[in-house]
Amino acid sequence: MREWSREEKYRYLKDPQEIADLYQRISSSVWRQTYHNQPVTGLMNDPNGFVWHDNRWHLFYQWCPWGAVHGLKYWYHIVSRDLVSWKNLGVCLMPDQEDGYDNKGAYSGSAMPIGDKIYLYYTGNHRDPDWTRHAYTCLARLGNDGWPEKYPLPLFGSHPDYTEHQRDPKIIRVPGREGWFMIIGAQTKSKDGCALVYYSEDLQHGWMFAGELKVPGYEHFGDMWECPSVEHIGGKEVLLFCPQHLTLPGRGGSRNHNGYILGSMDWDTLTFTPEGQFHVLDFGFDFYAAACANNLQEKDKAILIGWMGVPDVSYPTDDEEWAGCLTLPRELTVRDRRLIQRPLPELKKLRDEKMDIIENDFGCCMLPAAAEMEVDCRPGDVELDMFTDGEGRGGLSIRYDDSKREITVNRSQMQLTFNPEEGFDRTRPLEAGLNHLRIYVDSSSVEIFVNDGDAVFTSRVFPCGNEHFFRIQGDVFVRLWTMKRAVQDNFLI
Ligand code: FRU
Repeated sequence: MREWSREEKYRYLKDPQEIADLYQRISSSVWRQTYHNQPVTGLMNDPNGFVWHDNRWHLFYQWCPWGAVHGLKYWYHIVSRDLVSWKNLGVCLMPDQEDGYDNKGAYSGSAMPIGDKIYLYYTGNHRDPDWTRHAYTCLARLGNDGWPEKYPLPLFGSHPDYTEHQRDPKIIRVPGREGWFMIIGAQTKSKDGCALVYYSEDLQHGWMFAGELKVPGYEHFGDMWECPSVEHIGGKEVLLFCPQHLTLPGRGGSRNHNGYILGSMDWDTLTFTPEGQFHVLDFGFDFYAAACANNLQEKDKAILIGWMGVPDVSYPTDDEEWAGCLTLPRELTVRDRRLIQRPLPELKKLRDEKMDIIENDFGCCMLPAAAEMEVDCRPGDVELDMFTDGEGRGGLSIRYDDSKREITVNRSQMQLTFNPEEGFDRTRPLEAGLNHLRIYVDSSSVEIFVNDGDAVFTSRVFPCGNEHFFRIQGDVFVRLWTMKRAVQDNFLI
């Protein structure tokens, strides 16, 4: 794997031509996605600033132009009318050169549209010449001409009672209350993850520290909370966050998780009272920093998009100098003290051709590079192997064991394995058995929705050679569609 010097990682992009060759090279990768957003070049991580404005959805992603490395981060802007087809708009927030407040990256944040502007709240990742870190909460105002006007001064700097790990502002309007809240991921001086709350009557100035969010029972739960937010869904409140550097049962050696707690939020005492435990949002291997659209009018649901990746690992595309993609948008609802996550109904528009499912002599069927598979399951075991070779060998296995009532996804038999430290299998109990699977396959990813949103397994997979078949056993009925292209993937910086 390539070693990056600090200078290389944090180089400022002065001219798109500097990455034009890189783009050309990457374009020929067999792992470029066809209906998932991915970086033009280099590395994509968190989705940022997800909102509806001016008759379209706006979404930004953390982007490092140079290669598969977490270096200088920009906000890259994409838009969609239907959350299905996406268009590149190019770079939005650029870090300042020299000694600006965000001189080493415009880190994650959120957005709020007011009038004809979108207000973008983000973390200015500042480093002194001796590389001391400072975090600033910054604001930019994006007009309909697409040009962001950065405010010259940050809204506030880091709070001195916490370490400099303070980032990812989420701007929140609480129904029935005046003013605005902002939640920021942070770390206490004794190295516990937490969230800080700020308040202001005005979006643009006057932000005051309101206090640390109290979450009884979660005082020592990871050493940093990234991307926290409180969402109101169906009369409930949901605390979403990414606790770092802790291990959880059933999650292999994975140390970074994206999960949620259902409960109730008291904005006067800044207490989030859990009703139930922490749940991971996704049981797959590659899911992190998920964000909900900020100004959805519907009260009983939310729309969530995640980064299909995790921090501190590497991927086979790193050698091709690109990494990361976004998940499909999911609709969140609350049922029985759990979040239900369903693919958006609009995604049906992506279906192209319905395929006839024809088995070869080995009981295998063709699996198109971009496909949706729907499986109705009757009681009993189900064995589904995806991305096998033409003789049914290898691939990603999905096993439902009816006697144990659990489903397991295992990617250890793919030709290309990676991130062994994350573990190779993930299991989720299914108390009511397995009745349905909806699976989205793209050139290098798979999203498995189990029992109509009861559980999701999201993972990158990098099929090679002949790994384009599947086989299934059990009392099942399978439908399969090829999928249309929905991302433009053009070179626009
Ligand atoms: C999460 C994260 C954020 C940070 C951003 C930097 O993946 O580490 O906390 O703002 O990525 O790209």
